[in-house]
Amino acid sequence: MWGGRFAEGPSAIMREINASIPFDKALWRQDIAASEAHVAMLAAQGIVSAEDARAISDGLAAIAHEYERDGVPENWDLEDIHMTTEARLAELIGPAAGRLHTARSRNDQVATDFRLWVREALDEMDAGLAALQRALVTRAGEHAATIMPGFTHLQTAQPVTLGHHLMAYYEMFRRDRSRLADARDRLNECPLGSAALAGTGFPIDREITSEALGFDRPTANSLDAVSDRDFALDYLFTASACALHLSRLAEELVLWASQPFGFVRLPDSLSTGSSIMPQKKNPDAAELVRGHAGRVIGCATALMVTMKGLPLAYSKDMQDDKPPVFEAASLMALSIAAMTGMIGDATFATARMRQAAEMGYATATDLADWLVREAGIPFREAHHVTGAVVKFADARGLALNEVPLADLAAIDERIDERVFDALSVDASVAARASYGGTAPEQVRMQVDRARAALGME
Ligand code: ARG
Repeated sequence: MWGGRFAEGPSAIMREINASIPFDKALWRQDIAASEAHVAMLAAQGIVSAEDARAISDGLAAIAHEYERDGVPENWDLEDIHMTTEARLAELIGPAAGRLHTARSRNDQVATDFRLWVREALDEMDAGLAALQRALVTRAGEHAATIMPGFTHLQTAQPVTLGHHLMAYYEMFRRDRSRLADARDRLNECPLGSAALAGTGFPIDREITSEALGFDRPTANSLDAVSDRDFALDYLFTASACALHLSRLAEELVLWASQPFGFVRLPDSLSTGSSIMPQKKNPDAAELVRGHAGRVIGCATALMVTMKGLPLAYSKDMQDDKPPVFEAASLMALSIAAMTGMIGDATFATARMRQAAEMGYATATDLADWLVREAGIPFREAHHVTGAVVKFADARGLALNEVPLADLAAIDERIDERVFDALSVDASVAARASYGGTAPEQVRMQVDRARAALGME
C-alpha cells in the first residue's frame, strides 16, 4: 500500500514489530462502519461516483459477512485492520477499491474506529454496573435491618446494618457510572476527515460522517484529532476507579468468607476447592476481582506512559494504545459479572454478624451519647466515663449491657436503669436515623431511591 518509494521490502523483524493486526482486528466492525460512512459522504459530495460508491459499499458488506463467518485473516504484510480490509476490498471489486481512501488517512481512520470501540465499551461497562447495582439494592432491601459490626481501622466501631454497608457500594458504582457518562460525552466527537494531520483539500462534509456514526459533532482541530487518546485514557481512568471499588468489595468478601469472620457463604458456583485440603472452599472469584484491579490500573499506567512524550501529531507508539484498553475492557467485564453473581447469590450469616456486633463494645458511643442526652454531661466527659465502663467490662469479659447497674452507678452515679435501652445493638442502629444514617428506616429510604433511579419499580 505504501511501497512506491522503497527499493526493498521490510525485514522479518520489521514486519513483526509493525503488525497490529493480531490485536486491532477487534476493530473490524468499527472500521467497516466508518468506511461505509466515509464512502457515502464521498458520493454525496461528488468526490467519488455513485457507481464506485455502491461497489465499495457492497464490497464492505461482503467483507463484514466474511469476517463474521471466518474471522479476520492475520497477514502481517497488511499490518493492520485498515489495510487488511482495503486489500480484501481490492480483491473483491478491483481498482475502485482504491477510491475509498480518498480524503482519509489511517491516522483519522484509527482514531475514529477506536473511539467507536471505546464508546461501546463505556456503554457495556455501564450496563454491567447497572446490573451489579440492582443486585446490591435487592440484597440491601432484604437486609435493611440486619445488624453487623461497622468498622474503622478494621476494629469494631459501631453497629450498622448490612443493607447500609451494601448501599455504600451502590453509591460508589453510581459515581463510576457518572464518570462513564462524562467520558462518553467528551469522547463523542468524530475525528474522521482530519486525514493524516492537517485536514484535506477535498470538499468533504464532516457533519455527514459525524452524524452517520452517531457522534455529536466533528472534532475541531485536525492535529488534536489524530493525536488525542484522552478518550481511551478517560475509559481507563474510569475503569481504574471502578476496579478500586470492586477490589474493596472483593476484599471484604474474602475477609467475611474467612472462618474467623464467618459473615458470608459465597456461592459454590463462584468458589473453588483445594487439591490437597478437602475442607477448603476458596473465594477465588473475589480474589481475582481484587487482583484484576491491579492489572487494570497497570493498563491505565501503560497508556499514560506511552502518550506522555509524544510530539504532535501521530506517532507509531500510538498503535500500542489498543492492547491495554482491550485488556482492561475484558478484565472489567469479567470482574463486574463475577461480583454481580457473588452479591446476588451470597448467603449472609446474619446471626453471626449480630453476635460479632454484640462483642467488641460497639455500643460504647451510645452509652456516651446517653450520658450527654439524659444526664446533661459534656461529650468529652461522657467519653471518659464510658471508657471507664468499657475497661471494667473488658476486665470481666462482659458485654456493655451485661455490666450490673450497681457497677455502672459506682463508676458514675448519674447512670440509671434506663441506660440499658440504649445499649442494645438494635437501639444503637435505630437511633442513627439522621439522613444517610444506618437506621433501618433510612436504609429503606436509600433502597427506595435507588430502586427508582434504576427503574426497578
Ligand atoms: N495501525 C495503526 C495504529 O493503530 C494505524 C495508523 C497508522 N498510521 C500510519 N501513518 N502509520 O496506530
